[in-house]
Amino acid sequence: MLSLCRRKAEEKGLTDRIGLIRADMTTFGLPRKDYALAYIALRSFAPGIQAVALEAWRYTYRTIFDPEFIEDFVRRNYAPEGTVSLLPRIHSSDLFFHVAEQDSNIVGFCNIGLTERSAQLLRIYLLPSHIGQGLGRKLLHLGEEFVMTHSLSSYFCFVHKDNELGKRFYLRNNFIHITEKDHQDEWYVEKVLSR
Ligand SMILES: CC(C)(COP(=O)(O)OP(=O)(O)OC[C@H]1O[C@@H](n2cnc3c(N)ncnc32)[C@H](O)[C@@H]1OP(=O)(O)O)[C@@H](O)C(=O)NCCC(=O)NCCS
Repeated sequence: MLSLCRRKAEEKGLTDRIGLIRADMTTFGLPRKDYALAYIALRSFAPGIQAVALEAWRYTYRTIFDPEFIEDFVRRNYAPEGTVSLLPRIHSSDLFFHVAEQDSNIVGFCNIGLTERSAQLLRIYLLPSHIGQGLGRKLLHLGEEFVMTHSLSSYFCFVHKDNELGKRFYLRNNFIHITEKDHQDEWYVEKVLSR
């Protein structure tokens, strides 16, 4: 299914959007006439996204949450049908959704959604085996282009206070921790974008 979608996309000259953008990024934001194709592609990617989420969550939160909580959270919040249901928002450009691939396998993903006045980085996860190769930064930069396209000059996210890897990534990428906006166990971090 994956390669079929890609071949169709290539035939239609859509490789910039749905095929491989080097170091293997795929996006689902397509013109309306290609909505059906995007639907097929997203449906074919959705189980892989959940599989990456499960491995990434097990690794990232291994000392933070119980294994049962992690399994249940990923089962509910990354269910393939839930991912597919995001397509209208992706299509209308309310949601940025990129996956990183290697050898036709999904190795990470990133979502950014628009909020009333800003944008929120909702999810950025890589397989543990692909951490530390610059893919996170690459996903982030693509997401920042999406944020700037919406004429926004900043965006934010929440990161668990004990997720040292995540916190270091954000601070390295010029996010600032604004303690007054923290939520219970989560840091609020914000980044101002310069053009
Ligand atoms: C957070 C996360 C997405 C960051 O991704 P990452 O790819 O590891 O981070 P980076 O893109 O910054 O790459 C890390 C290092 O890879 C190295 N690197 C290796 N090859 C590289 C390349 N080709 N280009 C750029 N950097 C490269 C760099 O040294 C870089 O560190 P530096 O910025 O200090 O130079 C990833 O660590 C992850 O999935 N963590 C677990 C999930 C998580 O915590 N998510 C956040 C939840 S809120």
